[in-house]
Amino acid sequence: MNHPQDWYKTKEQAEGYQEFQKSYMGPSRFLCLQLAGRKIGTSPLRILDLGCGTGAAVPMLRELFPEAKITGVDIEPEMLDVAKRLYEDSNIEFLEGSSQKFPYEIGEFDFIFSFSSFRLWDNPVLCLKEIQKHLSANGLAYIADLRKDISSQIQSEALKKTSDFKSLVEEQIESAYTIDEVENLLDKADISDYLIYDQPFSVLFQNRAQQKRITEKLAEFTIDSDALNAKQNLHSMLYHLFIYPENHE
Ligand SMILES: C[S@@+](CC[C@H](N)C(=O)[O-])C[C@H]1O[C@@H](n2cnc3c(N)ncnc32)[C@H](O)[C@@H]1O
Repeated sequence: MNHPQDWYKTKEQAEGYQEFQKSYMGPSRFLCLQLAGRKIGTSPLRILDLGCGTGAAVPMLRELFPEAKITGVDIEPEMLDVAKRLYEDSNIEFLEGSSQKFPYEIGEFDFIFSFSSFRLWDNPVLCLKEIQKHLSANGLAYIADLRKDISSQIQSEALKKTSDFKSLVEEQIESAYTIDEVENLLDKADISDYLIYDQPFSVLFQNRAQQKRITEKLAEFTIDSDALNAKQNLHSMLYHLFIYPENHE
């Protein structure tokens, strides 16, 4: 197996990723941000998108938090080049850097978001510490990623309709963590102020009005109800980790 990070290196891969992520990851990313929007009390002024890739979260972050200044950080320059071409304006900056050691003097953030990147980080314990260190006093970090400990039934259901990308997703799941492993990493990072949700979105969004709004929005991502069902199964394959600042009340 290639190293999972090898998918994001070249210009062709970065352009290809931009296409792939739209149909395949767009709905999950959208649902994750809806979840975050519910958890964040006040509107964040500074947001960090860690492992931002081609900047796919930017339009949704803008919609949810129009006042915020967004910083995207990624380790791969080719991914950032696509992001800069698509989104850069005065309220957004993209910086090359690692989750392990944030770019120099990057400052504090009210919301640190990371979607589908954590499993790729070389030293996750250091990264978790770095994240907590860069949270403002009322800040919140949210990491959403694939989990390894999903039943083979859910996995095969979710991958049934995605034959084009099946082996890619299988490889990425193989490199992901179980919830126990994530908790172990947090323990090693000495982080106790955290919360993990491991339920599918159908359970996390119980509120009727919210479900309606979300279903309408999700319909924009796909036209085929079979594909939508497959994607909803895919959404069950994530965990949601919220990290609070140290000594959070
Ligand atoms: C699957 S992509 C997700 C991109 C984006 N978050 C999205 O939602 O489309 C994973 C990204 O994480 C980046 N990445 C991997 N390791 C990283 C690290 N240590 N620090 C920052 N970014 C990293 C990769 O370069 C890649 O762009």
